Amino acid sequence: MAGARSFGNYDLAAALADLIDNSIKAGARALTILFEPAENDVTVRIRDDGAGMSRIELIDAMRPASSNPEDQRDAGDLGRFGWGLKSASLSQARILTVVSWRDGLACAARWNVDDLDDWAMDLFEGSDALSLLASAPVGSSGTEVIWTRCDRLYDSSLTATLDERLNEKISHAKKQLSLVFHRYLAGEDGRRLEISLQGLRLDPVDPFMARHPATQSLDEEYVPVTPSAGVRVKPFVIPHFSKLTHEERLALDGDEGLARNQGFYVYRNRRLIIHGTWFRLVPHGELSQLTRIRIDLPNSLDAEWKITLDKSDAQLPINLRRRLREIVQRFSRRSVGVYRRRGVDLNTLEKAPVWRRNSHNGRIRYFINRDHPIIRELLYEASDQSMAQEAMRLVEYCVPVEAMAEDVRSADDSLVQPITDPDQFDSLVHACMLAYLRQAGAVSLSGFLAFARKAEPFSEQWKYTESLIKEKAGEWKLK
Ligand SMILES: Nc1ncnc2c1ncn2[C@@H]1O[C@H](COP(=O)(O)OP(=O)(O)OP(=O)(O)O)[C@@H](O)[C@H]1O
Ligand SMILES: [Mg+2]
Repeated sequence: MAGARSFGNYDLAAALADLIDNSIKAGARALTILFEPAENDVTVRIRDDGAGMSRIELIDAMRPASSNPEDQRDAGDLGRFGWGLKSASLSQARILTVVSWRDGLACAARWNVDDLDDWAMDLFEGSDALSLLASAPVGSSGTEVIWTRCDRLYDSSLTATLDERLNEKISHAKKQLSLVFHRYLAGEDGRRLEISLQGLRLDPVDPFMARHPATQSLDEEYVPVTPSAGVRVKPFVIPHFSKLTHEERLALDGDEGLARNQGFYVYRNRRLIIHGTWFRLVPHGELSQLTRIRIDLPNSLDAEWKITLDKSDAQLPINLRRRLREIVQRFSRRSVGVYRRRGVDLNTLEKAPVWRRNSHNGRIRYFINRDHPIIRELLYEASDQSMAQEAMRLVEYCVPVEAMAEDVRSADDSLVQPITDPDQFDSLVHACMLAYLRQAGAVSLSGFLAFARKAEPFSEQWKYTESLIKEKAGEWKLK
């Protein structure tokens, strides 16, 4: 039992989550979590209004390895190892007491890590059991898990900073639980779960902002893993922060910031297990930081995913890798777009030349302006993002500077590369119009005029361009 204290890698949030799993399985609707100061200690009480346990069931539940991970579980069961109640509790406390009541009968059992000599747990019944509660039970059934001698939460040698450290852990746990159980808290399956922590109700934190109008998503896709079971995959691109309120942004950022939170969000029975990883399928990049892909897996695939005891880690099954990589690559292009498209504010768009000159430490270099409307569109639409970027760099790297300089010196006429064929110019204007439609998402004639006016080479040949656009407005359906 002392060894069980180090099973898994529980922090406070993960330990509470394991108990909440049990309450959900027991059909609970409401959970309260309370941290009460005690002498040189803190007592934690986690109470639910679930089905409760009979005396026999309680004794069974308190047993280490109370069930076999290889047994098939009900589809809605969040458990697996038969350890959670014990290992999660003992990771935080040296004494675990469980009180349960049903139909007027109450019972309680206790493990004390410091008093295990005879391998017996303490048992209590009736009023003895109820006296262990701080407040009388409400409702006909329920369970309260009590942690005492919480040496991992309370360090008596550090009393001065206790409140601060404990409060920090509690507030971290609050955020975590709001995320881990967000689908239950939101009542996704029609049954809403209420969790209150220190008297405050947890609000669901949806990492996909699925209801936000600026969120993009694709249809859910089913990917088989074994002949009888598979995962459901649904990609989202969350809105660029400029479309969010500050509060919404903080919720999305989480503790570690946006970039850390990109990647797969793996749910087992709608309970979040892992997030913020790409399983090394694609690099963790700046540009994919708005991509979040939801994976739903049933508990029948636990073995394939190698779910860990503390339910905070899992491994991607080999036969899913290829399929998921394809989905990610296809989808991250959209996320790149959302990111790059931030602030295509027509009024503030400065003049968009094709080349930008950069002089640094006496060295002059020219770069292709990736914000030029047509270049921007090319990069956005490219099916292979990195190849498109490499091609840009290649052109920049191989500008025939010396030949040009030589030509300037020797040519009689000044060196120019005008578009001599007006049809070619016209088709550039057309391309610019398509870029405008996609980037601005509008079909306004005056809007497009303002857009093109700023971009090279139209700005330089404005008289012609303007007349062309006005003439074509009907055909291009600009209003
Ligand atoms: N709050 C509760 N209400 C009712 N029954 C409970 C509660 N907590 C635990 N139990 C019972 O105790 C059993 C053992 O729980 P425990 O968390 O140790 O293992 P598990 O949930 O079966 O698997 P895992 O180790 O994956 O959590 C549960 O299967 C359940 O029957
Ligand atoms: Mg459990």
